[in-house]
Amino acid sequence: MDHAALLTAAREAAHNAYAPYSHFPVGAAIITTTGEIICGCNVENAAYGEAICAERNAITTAVAALGPNIQVDTVAVVGLQAAPCWPCGACRQVLREFNCRGVIVEDESGSPIQLPFADLLPHSFGPEALHSPDDHGEH
Ligand code: THU
Repeated sequence: MDHAALLTAAREAAHNAYAPYSHFPVGAAIITTTGEIICGCNVENAAYGEAICAERNAITTAVAALGPNIQVDTVAVVGLQAAPCWPCGACRQVLREFNCRGVIVEDESGSPIQLPFADLLPHSFGPEALHSPDDHGEH
């Protein structure tokens, strides 16, 4: 899937957002390393702090659908009210957990901007830090 198609999927997901408090609908589309595309949107709550962002919604949906071994190739993010819409810090950390390699957003004129994930979260903490030297990454 090309950049434009992944951004289109994210935009479509944004139209399903539940954002009655911020009026800031966001959609995310992730493509896994095995080619599955899973979308998410932000879902807010009257208890404001319980909102979930589009990116984390997409990740949790992907795990529920595909299992715990998913690896994220790329995430595309579209905010209907602002461009570019970069993933928030919490979402960057959750994307990092699943080894996200790249991020695509739209610039002000709708053109894609693609960055390596390490540009968004350099020197990051990830699951491999918790593996002991002799467990070969198994849990
Ligand atoms: N939001 C996302 O869904 N993803 C982002 O990358 C940035 C922020 C949501 C959270 C909240 O529902 C609304 O946008 C305003 O912050």
